[in-house]
Amino acid sequence: MKKVFLIQNSKYLDFLSKFGVGGAHPGGINLTEEIFKAESVSNTSYILDVGCGTGQTAAYLANKYEANVTGIDINSIMVAKAKRRMKKDRLPVKILQGSIEKIPLPDQKFDIIISESVLSFVNKPRALKEIYRLLKSGGRFIAIEFTINQQLEEQCEQEIKKFYGFDSCSMKKDWVALLERAGFKYIRIQNNKSISSEPEFQYSEDIEPELHEIMDKLYDMHIKYAGILDYRIYSCTK
Ligand SMILES: C[S@@+](CC[C@H](N)C(=O)[O-])C[C@H]1O[C@@H](n2cnc3c(N)ncnc32)[C@H](O)[C@@H]1O
Repeated sequence: MKKVFLIQNSKYLDFLSKFGVGGAHPGGINLTEEIFKAESVSNTSYILDVGCGTGQTAAYLANKYEANVTGIDINSIMVAKAKRRMKKDRLPVKILQGSIEKIPLPDQKFDIIISESVLSFVNKPRALKEIYRLLKSGGRFIAIEFTINQQLEEQCEQEIKKFYGFDSCSMKKDWVALLERAGFKYIRIQNNKSISSEPEFQYSEDIEPELHEIMDKLYDMHIKYAGILDYRIYSCTK
């Protein structure tokens, strides 16, 4: 029987999947590359990319380090585009469709788990519990995640949550508390603003006209919440 996944109502995520935006996280693939320079990765590493989108990061890790990479995403369009990428590039990356809140993989399978702009969209405690379960003891979790720099007024918080489809907006201290509660140690927080990347697109044939407007609205949101809706790089150890 085909599994049906409950996908949150987010025009922003619809836009990302139909436009096939690769590197759909702050800093993009160049930031990912920089982050992994500081990690111990080899062809014996098992890496999971949760919310892998079109698979740009998963492909990079398989290509550059020949690591054993798995990607999981809830969105069927993202999954199809990620699978197409791996086939085209002849990379042995496994791509699964499923939710980060309940990942159908055994305990302690991975050395590194990466989440790039994903946790804000989901139930964070549930997702972090799964990530912790899947990591080997001593394994590393790296997350590039939206972080608000100040407490928001209710109306602004609602606007942000509605536009992006976020489950919640978290400040740095909230992220740290969530990671600690999940059991992670040696939490390090970075704020690397000097790195950016050109986005990559893999367009679908059937893009709804309303999704073209999301790009403009995204630009407006960046302007309106500049300095408030920010991001951080969180890295920690199980
Ligand atoms: C902003 S995009 C980032 C995609 C990718 N990490 C990247 O950097 O290009 C967020 C991704 O999270 C995925 N996602 C949202 N909720 C999810 C869930 N519950 N389980 C797995 N993936 C989810 C979306 O489908 C989307 O691909």
